[in-house]
Parts: sequence; structure tokens; C-alpha cells
Amino acid sequence: MYDWLNALPKAELHLHLEGSLEPELLFALAERNKIALPWNDVEALRSAYAFNNLQEFLDLYYAGADVLRTEQDFYDLTWAYLLKCKAQNVIHTEPFFDPQTHTDRGIPFEVVLRGIKQALVDGEKQLGISHGLILSFLRHLSEEEAFKTFEQAMPFRDAFIAVGLDSSEMGHPPRKFQRVFDKARSEGLLTVAHAGEEGPPEYIWEALDLLKIKRIDHGVRAIEDERLMQRIIDEQIPLTVCPLSNTKLCVFDDMRQHNILQMLERGVKVTVNSDDPAYFGGYVTENFAALHESLGMTKEQATRLAQNSLDARLV
Ligand code: HPA
Ligand code: ZN
Repeated sequence: MYDWLNALPKAELHLHLEGSLEPELLFALAERNKIALPWNDVEALRSAYAFNNLQEFLDLYYAGADVLRTEQDFYDLTWAYLLKCKAQNVIHTEPFFDPQTHTDRGIPFEVVLRGIKQALVDGEKQLGISHGLILSFLRHLSEEEAFKTFEQAMPFRDAFIAVGLDSSEMGHPPRKFQRVFDKARSEGLLTVAHAGEEGPPEYIWEALDLLKIKRIDHGVRAIEDERLMQRIIDEQIPLTVCPLSNTKLCVFDDMRQHNILQMLERGVKVTVNSDDPAYFGGYVTENFAALHESLGMTKEQATRLAQNSLDARLV
């Protein structure tokens, strides 16, 4: 089944490039940039990958990103991810990057963007993988800081297809970013947002009504609100679901409790994605495989999930 799932043509619509930083590359970049790490070796770092919630993960994810310093580092990070895509027949990807994670450490916006974008362009040419890049704002930071990041991005407007919203969800509702999302849309950018991962269904309503999002990232808590479920079914609003992420961050205690197939059978446009594969134990195929193993996902269901991902592309 793994090989069959691997061979399915698919799109990945929820992937944080910083979350694809494998421990081996993290150590190699630390050495290249002469950065001392708090972990002795790759195994010690990997064994720190045990989380009780989103915040515990984010603390380690931001610490890991500190080894990314030069344009070449961002290129190497993105290229390594694209090679995984190639190996798993991901024919199109719409990755996120978090510029504030880097600009707040003194790395210029254009250093980050140039490295990522060059790898994505080479990936189109050399690997045949098409892409659309999404600039994600960190929601634990202020509206003012999001505006500042947006202004830094505008000289490179054509490098992006959309803006997104990630980081600590609880206490940072989508309405906090209504004005910066309005501004992004006025520049012709599309919008997406993480909502309903740890946060309540109300955050999904806000993301739809105030941020005018085209896709809901995660959105698994929509199932708690029947009126919301009806809306996302009627309007066929895609959900970018990340099964391994949800179990690693204890959104569901066990994969057998995951609601993705229940949603699929109710007619929700759900897709399968890897979120932060270096931290959560696998790329897209591993996420599909986990659904087969724990929930008995059939080939027919996998085919529909993969087709949904191709249909839910923004570009
Ligand atoms: N949720 C919120 N922020 C994130 C995530 C996530 O799953 N991954 C990386 N940043
Ligand atoms: Zn995410």
C-alpha cells in the first residue's frame, strides 16, 4: 500500500519550509555557520521531538530555525524538501515560510526570499514540480509587526500567491489581522489561515468572514459546529489537514480518533498534508499511510483525497 500511495499524483498545500528542516541538515548548517547547538548529536535532537501541544513544538521549531542564516541555507532547505516531493510524486506544492522568524534575528527579508524562491524556480525546471509560495504572518506578534513584514514583502509582490497566518493560535484570533489581510487582498493576494487546529470553531468563522480565506489550514475542530460544517460543505471550502501533526501535537490522542475520513464521507473537501515533516515523523506519503493503517483508508478514499489536493490548489 505504501508504494501505491507514494505513486499517487498529489499536491501539498500545508507545509512550513522551516518545518522541513531535518536534524541532519540542521547539524550541517550549524557547522557551516559555526553555531553551537544545545544538543550533542542528531539522535539527541530527535529525541527532543515529543510534544504535548502546539506551543511546545513551536518553541523547538523556532530554536531550530536559528541555524538558517544565508541565502544558500534557505536554498538548501527548500531544495531538500523538493527532492522529497519528487520522491513522493508531489507534483505541485504551496509552501509557507515565516519571514518574521528570520527578520527578527537580523536576517534580511530578501536573503530568506531569494534562497527559497531560487530553489522553487529550479525545482520547476529540473524536477517538474510547480509551486505557489505563501507568506505567513506569526499571529503571536502584533498587527503592526505584520504590517511591517508586509511592506518588506511588497517589492517582491510577484514572488507570492497568498498570505497566511500561523504560530500560537489560542488567544490570537484571526480578527487581530483583519486590516493587514484587507491590505494583502487589495494587492491581489489570496488569503489562507490556520484555524481550528487548537482554536475553537469561532476562529474558523472569523477567518472565513473577516480574512476571506480561500482555504482553512487544519480546521479539524469545524466538526464541533454543525452550521459551520454545512457551510464548508456547501461552499466546498478546502481544509488542509495534517494527520501526523495532529497526533504529535495531541489535537487527537490517537490516529484512530482522527476525523478526516468522517469529514471526507460527509462531503468536506479535505486534503492530506505534512505540516512540519521533519518534526512529526513523515512527509505526505507517511501521512496517507498512517490513515490507511489506523483508520482503514481505502484506495478509493485515498484517490479522492489526492484529487481534492489537486482541485484545492490556489494556482
Ligand atoms: N500550527 C501553527 N503554526 C505552525 C504550525 C502549525 O501546525 N506549524 C508551523 N507553524
Ligand atoms: Zn501548519
